[in-house]
Amino acid sequence: MALRSLALGCGSYLPAQVLTNEELSQRLQTSDIWIRKRTGICQRHIAADDEMTSDLGSAAARQALEQAGIDADEVDLIVCATSTPDETFPATATRIQEQIGCTRGAAFDIQAVCSGFVFALSVADNFLRLGQARTALVIGAETFSRILDWEDRGTCVLFGDGAGAVLLRAAENGGTPQDAGVISTHLYSDGRHHDALYVDGGPSSNGQVGHLRMEGKEVFRHAVVRMADAIDAALEKNDLKASDIDWMVPHQANIRIIESMAKRLDLPKERVVVTVDRHANTSAASIPLALCEAVTDGRIKRGDLILMEAMGGGFTWGSALLRW
Ligand code: ACO
Repeated sequence: MALRSLALGCGSYLPAQVLTNEELSQRLQTSDIWIRKRTGICQRHIAADDEMTSDLGSAAARQALEQAGIDADEVDLIVCATSTPDETFPATATRIQEQIGCTRGAAFDIQAVCSGFVFALSVADNFLRLGQARTALVIGAETFSRILDWEDRGTCVLFGDGAGAVLLRAAENGGTPQDAGVISTHLYSDGRHHDALYVDGGPSSNGQVGHLRMEGKEVFRHAVVRMADAIDAALEKNDLKASDIDWMVPHQANIRIIESMAKRLDLPKERVVVTVDRHANTSAASIPLALCEAVTDGRIKRGDLILMEAMGGGFTWGSALLRW
């Protein structure tokens, strides 16, 4: 027998305001066709002026608790992945903790940009498997609209706001890849690639919030190779084959990256959860948003094997295998 982190429920939240490619093309030298062809994105959600990352994260967390049938006061760990915190400090996770009415245990943020959810899942899974916590909320919540340069057509068309959450609880089971729960996580970073994707501001550099800067082609090139490596590591470690995967729930940055990952695994497109068309890239929120959509609409069922993979600024990248 082994301690496993079982996923008991999930939740998501998207701000009400939708910004279409058509609307963007009225403000910028871009077009619906260009954005759709290069990225697969048709629209994105944008947080209201009075909505903060913690509000998005709290809404997703509440839904995850409800779906799992767990009270907030049973939660003893909150890990929030975000690169767009409400404030420089305290952690957005502590704001969420307060908003959902949880007062026990520990709450903190982790920052791995678009890989944030996979990193947060890994951290929470380790806490649970070591017995340091029993019930964890793993949240990805972002308001990337606040760090975009809305004059830069090369970046501002790619991102959106949103949040997703998964409720994990430690339980004993056989601990094999056939048993339920988080099977493994693989995390990587390589800080030499800072200049390919970063925000040109921060408390200790220039005291500004800054704007996202990206060399799109360079990121694309690395994303395809590195996520493939992370997927291979996950399958190899668990002695699984690509054909064992029921669902790929990838980070949603670009449909071309997603399709190339699916092709490599020989996964039919019906087995790949895609939200990038409607959500755009919501960074750390993109995987839990996609996961929750497919769980809620009944595509993902209990016992299904889910592969998650992501890559983001840093670079950071990684993969996770979860049996729902
Ligand atoms: N509308 C119209 N034209 C545009 C736009 C736009 N929104 N943005 C750029 N262009 C122009 C460029 O100026 C360039 O024009 P030029 O040839 O006259 O110089 C032309 O389109 C081609 O630009 P590229 O940057 O070479 O286009 P590319 O095919 O590489 O597509 C894109 C750009 C979509 C950003 C792609 O590189 C990409 O998706 N990269 C991955 C980036 C990513 O996903 N980042 C998210 C964070 S990390 C992650 O999540 C994996």
